[in-house]
Amino acid sequence: MKVVVIGGAGYIGSHVVQALLQAGHTVKVYDNLSTGQTINYFDEAHNVEADILDYPTLVKELTGYDAVIHLAAFKAVGESMTHPEKYSINNIMGTLNVLNAMSALGITRMVFSSSAAIFGEGDGTPIQEDAPKAPTSYYGFTKLEIERFLAWYDRLRSMRYATLRYFNAAGYDPSETILGLEKNPANLIPVIMECAFGIRPELTIFGKDYPTQDGTCIRDYIHVSDLATAHVKALEYIDREDKSVALNLGTGMGLSVKEIYDQAVLVHGKPIPMQYGERRAGDPAQLVASSSKAQELLHWHPQHSTLDTLITSTYQAYRRHYPRA
Ligand code: UFG
Repeated sequence: MKVVVIGGAGYIGSHVVQALLQAGHTVKVYDNLSTGQTINYFDEAHNVEADILDYPTLVKELTGYDAVIHLAAFKAVGESMTHPEKYSINNIMGTLNVLNAMSALGITRMVFSSSAAIFGEGDGTPIQEDAPKAPTSYYGFTKLEIERFLAWYDRLRSMRYATLRYFNAAGYDPSETILGLEKNPANLIPVIMECAFGIRPELTIFGKDYPTQDGTCIRDYIHVSDLATAHVKALEYIDREDKSVALNLGTGMGLSVKEIYDQAVLVHGKPIPMQYGERRAGDPAQLVASSSKAQELLHWHPQHSTLDTLITSTYQAYRRHYPRA
């Protein structure tokens, strides 16, 4: 298929582009490079630097394509609570532009980056696709709203979509083609790496009194290359079956913050400065996906999401960036 990947220069997007090309699809990357890397990893992909708020350009660049994979969004949970307008403009208005451009051009295949954040805190058990949706952040709200718009565009414009709720995306391309590091990361694994490589002084583990085996929070970390494969399979599924689907993407297995930290120390081979701090507001004790629906419908099975590969692949990306640290 001829696919436009909006947000294809970003962390997850660049892995999606790689997976699409490997599967033989034709790819155009549409990205405003606001947070994505300027590096073109793949010669085969055509790159366009443009914004989803620019409707005429969107229509022009989508013309002649069969499908859109839309990953362009702001994603900082904390920031979404202090700067909601930014999230309204980019995540909601921008995505409506994408849907309307697709509609105007008769493009009826869309894979959308959603998030576990649509579920809020969960109830501590593996989260099924139809679990109650109760976002605790404005970010999560924007993702849930788009899922609702998609359902209407499906009904009114026969737009078949896959909405993919990522749990904790982590890791880097094990083939070491994609290496761009996020600036000022806030997520656990890159923060640990910055502490290992001396870019920041010390990791703070937020809370050690959660009702979990070691007192730290449990999350479902899914390797970004596994996420990327799921996008390709989801696109092929909605195209083949001519129907829409909502899928949770995780491994179904939880890892604690302390387990992640310990593994990073092991891979680094040296201590990484760490202290325990207060709980971070809004952090649920445990968020784990039930991933059986994606496994069943897409025949998708995570290949790279072991604790060791998650940490080692990230470590190698940092090591390549900071060879002497
Ligand atoms: N953590 C620390 N110290 C840090 C950073 C994180 O202890 O410096 C802990 C957090 O408290 C949490 C775990 O590591 O327990 C994972 O935190 P992240 O910030 O990496 O990820 P979250 O689970 O908070 O959020 C992720 C995505 C969001 C998405 C959410 C859905 O980053 O975009 O999952 O639940 F909305």
